[in-house]
Amino acid sequence: MGELRDNTTVNVSAAMQEAATIGRADPARRPAMATTLARAFHDDPVFTWVLRADQRRGRMLERGFELFLRKLWMEQEETYTTAAVAGVAVWELPGRWKVTPAQQLRLAPAMVRIFGRHLPRVLRALAVLERGHPTEPHYYLAFLGVDPRWQGRGLGGALLAPILETCDRESTPAFLEASSPRNRALYERHGFAATEEFTLGRSAPPQWRMWREPRPGHAAGAPPPSAAAVRPAAEHAGRS
Ligand SMILES: CC(C)(COP(=O)(O)OP(=O)(O)OC[C@H]1O[C@@H](n2cnc3c(N)ncnc32)[C@H](O)[C@@H]1OP(=O)(O)O)[C@@H](O)C(=O)NCCC(=O)NCCS
Repeated sequence: MGELRDNTTVNVSAAMQEAATIGRADPARRPAMATTLARAFHDDPVFTWVLRADQRRGRMLERGFELFLRKLWMEQEETYTTAAVAGVAVWELPGRWKVTPAQQLRLAPAMVRIFGRHLPRVLRALAVLERGHPTEPHYYLAFLGVDPRWQGRGLGGALLAPILETCDRESTPAFLEASSPRNRALYERHGFAATEEFTLGRSAPPQWRMWREPRPGHAAGAPPPSAAAVRPAAEHAGRS
C-alpha cells in the first residue's frame, strides 16, 4: 500500500504529453491498470461505504479490479489507458454490460476470496446498479479512474474522448453512474445529463445515473446540451 498511497503530483505539460498516448489497453498492462484504478477509487465515497472500516480496502480494490479486467472487461477491447497507465477508462459494448450467469459462476470463487465479509454488500450494490440500468442499446462507462498524482490535469476528460467520438459517429447513446457531484459536473461537460439520483442503500452516498445522447457532427468535449431534470432518489437498495 505504500506505493498505492504515493501522491507526488505531476505537472500539466507532462499530463498533456501523457494524454497524447491514450489508446486501447494492452492486456499485458492489466496489473498496472488495476493498481491505477485502486489508487483512484481508494477514497471514493461509494467504495468507502461498500468496503467500510477495512484497512485492506486498497489491496481489495486492486485485486477486484484485476479480476474484473481479466474475466469481464478486457475481452470487450474497449478499455483505454495511457503509456504510463496514468488513468483507465473501462467501457462495455452495447448489449454487453450485463454479467451473464456463466460469468457470475466464473467470478464467484475469487470474489469470495477477495471481498470476504463485504461480499453481501458488494452483491447488493451490483444488483441495485443492474436494476437501474437502461435497456436501450448504449456504450456503458463501467469505470473511469485517474491516478491521484495525475488528477485535475485533463486526463479524465481525454480518456472519455475515444468512445464518445464512436458514440457520435455511430449515433449510439452512452450511460454511466456518477459517484459524486464533482464527477457529475465533469460528465455534464462531456454531454451527459443526470436522469436519476439513487443510492446503493440506507446511509449510502448519493449517485446519479447519467445518459448521453449522441451528437453527430460534434467533437467530443464540445459544450453539452441543457441538463435534463434529475429525479430525486426514489428507491433504496434495501439494507446497507
Ligand atoms: C473523476 C476523474 C476520473 C477525473 O479525471 P481527472 O483527470 O482528474 O479530470 P480532468 O482533469 O479531466 O477534469 C477535472 C474535473 O474532473 C472532476 N473531478 C472529480 N474528482 C476529481 C478529483 N479528485 N481531482 C480532479 N478533478 C476531479 C471535476 O469535475 C474536475 O473539474 P473541477 O476541477 O472544475 O471541479 C478522477 O479525478 C478520478 O479518478 N477520481 C477518483 C475516481 C472517480 O471518482 N472516478 C469517477 C467515478 S464516477
